[in-house]
Amino acid sequence: MTAELDQVTVKKAYTRWAPVYDIVFGAVFDQGRQAAIEAAERVGGRILEVGVGTGISLPSYSSSNRIIGIDLCEPMLRKAQEKVVELSLTNVVRLEVMDAEHLSFEDASFDVVAAHHVVSTCPHPEAALDEFARVVRPGGEIILISRVGAEAGMRRVAEQMLQPIVRQLGWRSEFPWDRFARWTDGRSDVHLIERRPVPPFGHFSLVRFGKSATTPPS
Ligand SMILES: C[S@@+](CC[C@H](N)C(=O)[O-])C[C@H]1O[C@@H](n2cnc3c(N)ncnc32)[C@H](O)[C@@H]1O
Repeated sequence: MTAELDQVTVKKAYTRWAPVYDIVFGAVFDQGRQAAIEAAERVGGRILEVGVGTGISLPSYSSSNRIIGIDLCEPMLRKAQEKVVELSLTNVVRLEVMDAEHLSFEDASFDVVAAHHVVSTCPHPEAALDEFARVVRPGGEIILISRVGAEAGMRRVAEQMLQPIVRQLGWRSEFPWDRFARWTDGRSDVHLIERRPVPPFGHFSLVRFGKSATTPPS
């Protein structure tokens, strides 16, 4: 049984989640989402929300920012579009089906790239992170809420054993911090600003990366 995530599995999983997503994952993830939105608002401006899903966070952004949301899964995005219309969210300027690993935006087009509970659901998380770093402007921030799994020990073994099962639900149980650490180590233009646990259960973290104000020559 494979443990890997792929686009077909992710799309299928979130097509199933779409009708009930807000009921199941609304309140339970709210504290973390609000912390991430506060961090994004401190930078402000043009905010790309990757894996915007049902648009659960959209009503919380202040009207002065410009929000662009993308997601792989059309049924999730349809729910987001309904919210935009019902709540007259005029600051949400665009919602589009798009793959986080292949963003169609120009380099440095956003002040903030936000992804709440998304990176560990992408088939190739590091490819998505590379795209975030490309489209955020120098001096901007990448703000994530992410699953951070165990580094070692019995908990890590349990997370690895669960992975073939939870992939059908569209996520990873196994996602050690080391993946983020190795990603930043491989880049000279991105640095860690903050990492702190957020509810529930200490299995998730708010992670902020800064894009260096001056990009080194390639
Ligand atoms: C766990 S949900 C998170 C939704 C929302 N951000 C939240 O805070 O609840 C993960 C979302 O990421 C999307 N997603 C997964 N892989 C993606 C990819 N490669 N590109 C774009 N969206 C992706 C899924 O379709 C789903 O809507």
